Amino acid sequence: MIKIAPSILAADPLRIADDVDRIPNADYIHIDVMDGRFVPNLTFGPSVVRALRKHCNSFLDTHLMVESPERFIPDFAEAGSDGITVHVEPTHHINRLLQMIRELGCKPGVSINPGTPVVAVREILDMVSMVLVMTVNPGYGGQTLIRSTLQKVRELADLRSSLGLSFEIQVDGGVTIENVHEYAAAGADVIVAGTAVFGSDDPAAAVERLRTLASRARQR
Ligand code: DX5
Ligand code: ZN
Repeated sequence: MIKIAPSILAADPLRIADDVDRIPNADYIHIDVMDGRFVPNLTFGPSVVRALRKHCNSFLDTHLMVESPERFIPDFAEAGSDGITVHVEPTHHINRLLQMIRELGCKPGVSINPGTPVVAVREILDMVSMVLVMTVNPGYGGQTLIRSTLQKVRELADLRSSLGLSFEIQVDGGVTIENVHEYAAAGADVIVAGTAVFGSDDPAAAVERLRTLASRARQR
């Protein structure tokens, strides 16, 4: 089943709760946390997750684009994240980080940048609920999707079936109604969309459209 995860990076920063209320049909709320070091931008802290936790029952999908992620995991878990995704690039101990996330009661996810091969996460695929394939270089919304990432989704989907695992494959960055069908057909289960949802004048309809196009492509 295809899930849509609108990214609040593209929401109105002065009206995040109102924008979240405009997408009651979203499966996840994707929270892009950036520290200005691992990626050039600076965005949300645990207080935004805490406020969203009080505000809605949606699955809070926290994406940590930060150096030293071990410093941030406890606070984002305590704030109410349902899932916490960390990047493999900024740590020497991805296995330990994923254990930490699970021990704190959150679903662990791992993310790879466009320049990072799938093999970098091969040894921990059995520890994660989700693998996030970045389809842009992280830092900003509204970028153009990097097409070479499509093969990585296919490779992960093949690995998932050959290993008999069931992690979700998530894609994030530059995904629109024009290209979502290719990524769903390749094996993506969770679609992060910021601009395509909050940049439209009817975010709920945009969520439905993305889900319909992705589900149709998956069935083919
Ligand atoms: C990393 C961020 C963005 C954002 C989605 O830069 O993770 O990918 O969520 O961006 P758009 O607006 O392209 O859907
Ligand atoms: Zn993200």
